[in-house]
Amino acid sequence: MTFTIAIDGPAAAGKGTLSRRIAEEYGFHHLDTGLTYRATAKALLDRGLPLDDEAVAADVARHLDLGGLDRSVLSAHAIGEAASKIAVMPSVRRALVEAQQGFAAREPGTVLDGRDIGTVVCPDAPVKLYVTASAEVRAKRRHDEIVAGGGVADYGTILEDIRRRDERDMGRADSPLKPADDAHLLDTSEVSIEAAFSAAKSFIDAAL
Ligand code: C5P
Repeated sequence: MTFTIAIDGPAAAGKGTLSRRIAEEYGFHHLDTGLTYRATAKALLDRGLPLDDEAVAADVARHLDLGGLDRSVLSAHAIGEAASKIAVMPSVRRALVEAQQGFAAREPGTVLDGRDIGTVVCPDAPVKLYVTASAEVRAKRRHDEIVAGGGVADYGTILEDIRRRDERDMGRADSPLKPADDAHLLDTSEVSIEAAFSAAKSFIDAAL
């Protein structure tokens, strides 16, 4: 039987870094499920297909290749926005959740991060983490990341974006972002990702 670690939380809370660290530590496969929504959105944009036709978007989602996901190609802001629009469509979610569940079954273990892993994709995962931080801290992190990479960023615009994305992700009817009842909460507003990693490790070691 495989061992699955489910990690959820809003944008820029540190769940990506944390998930990669955990996967590396335990030698588990890692899937950033946000990339599945982003890749679907990018395929629609690239082919000039509409973002508001659920049947078309679901068809693209059903043909997605999990092996070809690359964040460097999918990180553009416009792709993130488009992803969160198609993520409200139930038949798109059903297609992607099915692919994610297939990934979750891989041996010897898996780490999946996203918005609905502990609640919908892997409700039986033995370890669930909900990683969060205040919108201000997340906006500052995203801002500093962009600046460190040589880019230009405006803190106010980033904060607005984060708030809008939170609203869309938490407010949608199908699979809204929220902690599973049995998730451990990790608030990274005050503590470093390193400290969050140590806490996560102790929850995982207790369940292994
Ligand atoms: O995490 P990331 O910013 O890459 O995700 C892009 C969008 O995909 C999110 O804003 C969210 O709307 C959607 N998403 C989702 N469920 C997941 C992962 C991402 O709805 N499990």
